[in-house]
Amino acid sequence: MSDRSILLIITGGVAAFKSLELIRELGRAGVRSRVILTKAAQEFVTPLSVSALSGEKCFTELFDLDDEAEMGHIELSRSTDLVVVCPASADIMGKAANGLANDLASTALLATDKRVLYAPAMNVRMWDHPAVKRNVETLRADGSIVLEPDEGLMACGEFGPGRLPEVARLKEEILAALSPDRSLEGKHILVTAGPTREPIDPVRYISNHSSGRQGYAIAASLRDRGAKVTLVSGPVSIQPPEGVELKKVETALEMLNAVETALPADAFISVAAVADWRPATASDTKLKLKGGDEPVSMTFAENPDILKTISNLAENRPGLVIGFAAETNDVAAHAQGKLQRKGCDWIVANDVSGDVMGGENNEVSLFTKDGMEASPRMSKAQIADWIAARIAKALS
Ligand code: CTP
Repeated sequence: MSDRSILLIITGGVAAFKSLELIRELGRAGVRSRVILTKAAQEFVTPLSVSALSGEKCFTELFDLDDEAEMGHIELSRSTDLVVVCPASADIMGKAANGLANDLASTALLATDKRVLYAPAMNVRMWDHPAVKRNVETLRADGSIVLEPDEGLMACGEFGPGRLPEVARLKEEILAALSPDRSLEGKHILVTAGPTREPIDPVRYISNHSSGRQGYAIAASLRDRGAKVTLVSGPVSIQPPEGVELKKVETALEMLNAVETALPADAFISVAAVADWRPATASDTKLKLKGGDEPVSMTFAENPDILKTISNLAENRPGLVIGFAAETNDVAAHAQGKLQRKGCDWIVANDVSGDVMGGENNEVSLFTKDGMEASPRMSKAQIADWIAARIAKALS
């Protein structure tokens, strides 16, 4: 790592002191840290202590003409291998997610052409706030790494997720980001995600609650490993990951068509919650059904099983075909049954009897013809990475 350097942005928070130890630990691994301290961070650590540890000048203000003459803020944000924001406050993530730039730290984040890693630290209620969640999602969709904070007792006396991870983990994540795994370079991977929407008439449809989050996170992890990713997505309200080819569809029939058109691929990952049935005929005009004496009935036609169709292609079958299964009971038996019935290579099963649906965390079991491997309980982004790592290994 001796030729590697990071631009470390330290924002305000009690955890700011940990970044001093981080500078020292990274230095031991041969990584040079150039540091920006925000105004709020200076309430917790001083430019002098930062300079003493990093052996470099510490930057603080945007319009310091001396600094601009020595090294402009654009240059500062680019002459580095990685930008690290640690601790990352809700404020800096909000600014970065929305493209605001009113001080040196936020300007550097907007001007950089390098990857950014955020290590958030904040009160548990702030971390759980929908606005912060939205911003984290946006930053991840833009290609940044946002670490999950640790859970525990906080400086404010509350308990929960929001603590800055320990320095050893921060160092490990930074070193990993400095030597990224590009093992999927040259591979084309096709992912489906989200629900499908099956029209009843021009204003009504049948669908399900799938948010698309797990599929989008898997697409982003595969992209991070260098894969060319085609993401075929049903209607969702989340942002697509940068750098993947997005094909938007509505119905199961459109999804199958988009998948077949996107072949050939090295792997197909079927994460979408495809509706198994569609109204046999969708009316061209809005149906008027109120007030009749008889209960309304509807006839359904079966949708194609996209996973099964792709698994059984005689020509152009991707080398690795993966299906997903959400089960509430007898997970192993159902997953193995699905593996056989669909003809796919792996089934990623999750037990949805608990709080997985719509929740933050997940744990999955990966079933192959040779056995089963269970993941730890992790965030959905970490689960995506766990799955992507196994795909990368299988394809290499
Ligand atoms: N799938 C598909 N096309 C369908 C239905 C499902 O591609 N028409 C895929 C999903 O993307 C997922 C897997 O098949 O990878 C889910 O299998 P499925 O048998 O539909 O499981 P469930 O929806 O959980 O249904 P059930 O357990 O009732 O069989």
